[in-house]
Amino acid sequence: MSILIKNGTIVTSVNEYKADVLIEGEKIAAIGTGLEGRADQVVDASGKYVFPGGVDEHLHYNSFSSLGYETSDAAAVGGTTTVGDFVVQPKGIGLKDSIIKYKKEAVEGKAMVDYVLHGIIMDPTDQSFNDIPFMPEVGVASVKLFMAYKGMDYYATDDSIFKALQIAKKCGVTIMVHAENADIIDVKVKQLLAAGKTGTENFSLSRPILCEAEATSRAVYMAKMANAPLFVVHVTNRAAAEVLREARAEGVQAFGETCTHYLSLNDKNLEKPNFEGAKYVCNPPLRPQEDVDYLWEAIRNGWILAVSSDHCAVIGGFAIAKHRGINDFSKIPPGAPGVQDRLHMIWTYGVEKGKISRTKFVDVCCTKPAKICGIYPQKGEIDVGSDADIVIFDPDYKGVFSNETSLHDTDYNAFEGFEQIGRAEKVFFRGNLVAENGKFLGKEGQGQQVMAKPYGLCYDGFRE
Ligand code: URP
Ligand code: ZN
Ligand code: ZN
Ligand code: ZN
Repeated sequence: MSILIKNGTIVTSVNEYKADVLIEGEKIAAIGTGLEGRADQVVDASGKYVFPGGVDEHLHYNSFSSLGYETSDAAAVGGTTTVGDFVVQPKGIGLKDSIIKYKKEAVEGKAMVDYVLHGIIMDPTDQSFNDIPFMPEVGVASVKLFMAYKGMDYYATDDSIFKALQIAKKCGVTIMVHAENADIIDVKVKQLLAAGKTGTENFSLSRPILCEAEATSRAVYMAKMANAPLFVVHVTNRAAAEVLREARAEGVQAFGETCTHYLSLNDKNLEKPNFEGAKYVCNPPLRPQEDVDYLWEAIRNGWILAVSSDHCAVIGGFAIAKHRGINDFSKIPPGAPGVQDRLHMIWTYGVEKGKISRTKFVDVCCTKPAKICGIYPQKGEIDVGSDADIVIFDPDYKGVFSNETSLHDTDYNAFEGFEQIGRAEKVFFRGNLVAENGKFLGKEGQGQQVMAKPYGLCYDGFRE
C-alpha cells in the first residue's frame, strides 16, 4: 500500500517547504513532486502542515498508579505516535528482567502507539547497577533515578546516582533524574502540616524552586565528577534551567526538558477552591508566571531541549485518588493527564502566540524527544527511510480543550476550557491512518517497542 500526501507544507526541526510525501508500507519512501504514479492513494493536504508524529519522551503508563496502555489511543488522536514510558523495577527482579516482564504483562496487545522504554532503578544495589550495560539488549538506553520521594522505594540517594552515572557512561545509557531535594521537602511538609496548613495552596511552598535548583545543581556536579552525561526531567523554573544552561556553556553534557503544564499553568491554580487545586498537584509543582514565561525563552533558545507531557492519569482520578489528600496536601497523588493535549497546547500557546516558530515546535515536540530517547531518525523526522508517522495539521481549526473530548479516560482535564487553535487532522502511524479529527481509527496492540540505541543523547553522536 502506498499513499501520497500531496500539496502540504512539510515542517521539520530545521526548515519548512512545500513537497509531497510518499509512504510505502510503514516507511517514508520519497519526498518531492511528481510522485503520483507511485501512489495507490492520494491524500490532499492543501493548506495544511505536514510534520513528524509527536514523540513524548516522558510519560507514565502504569507507573505512579496511573492508567495503562488501554488509554494510549489518547496519544494517537493528539498526534503523538511514540511515547517514552518508565518501567518501575519490582523488588527482587533484575533491572533488565523488569523490562521483559513489563513489556509482556502491561504493554503487548494493548499499546496503540509505539513506545520506547526507560528503566527506573528501585533496588539500588550493585546487582541492579551491573545490569545497566545490558539494558540496550532489551531496547532501553535511559534509566531514571528519583532524587525526590524520600521514604519511597524509588528514592535514590547520591551514592546510587553517582554509581549509576559511572556505569551508564561506559555503555551509552543516559541517566535521567527527577531533581528535587527530598530532605528539604520532608522538613517543609512536616512544618506546614504541623502549622495546620493542609490545603492545596501550600503544595508549592512544600517543594520550593530552590529545592529543585539545588538538586539539579547537585546532579550536574555528580555528572561532572563521573564525567557522564545527564538528562534532567521536568525542569520547571529559571533557577533550575540556568544551572543546566551554565553547565552546558562550560561543556558539561547536562540537558533538560520541560512539560506542557509548566509552559501553560502557573501556581495560582493550586489556590482554586473546593479542592480543585488538587487537579494541578504534580511534581515538581507549578511555578509563578515569571517562570512560565522564562521557560518559553529557554525552549526558544535551546537551553531546554524538549517538551514532554509527563502524562500521569492517576487511577481513580480527581474524584477518588486526588481526594485522598483532602485533609493533607502531601497525600495527593501527583500527576496530571496531558498526552493528548501536548501538541495542541504547544501549538496554540507557543506557535500561535508567537513564542516559538513552527520548526522549533517540531524540534521540541518530535525531533529532540526522539534523539533524547535514542530512536532518531526512525522517529521524529520527515525523511526518506524514517517511519511513516506523520501528522497532517489543520492550522485553521478552532476548539476548546475539554475532558469531554478527551480519550484520557479520567475525570478531568488540566487545560479544561482553554482555547485551542489548530488540530492534528489526520495521523498516520507507520503508514496507517490511525486518527482523524479527534477519532481513533487504529486498534489495540498496534504499538510496538522502538529499540533505543545507546549514545542517542549527549555523546559525540548527538547532534542538536
Ligand atoms: O507529578 C508527577 N510528575 N507524577 C509522576 C511522577 C514523576 O515524578 O514524574
Ligand atoms: Zn480509551
Ligand atoms: Zn518526576
Ligand atoms: Zn514523570
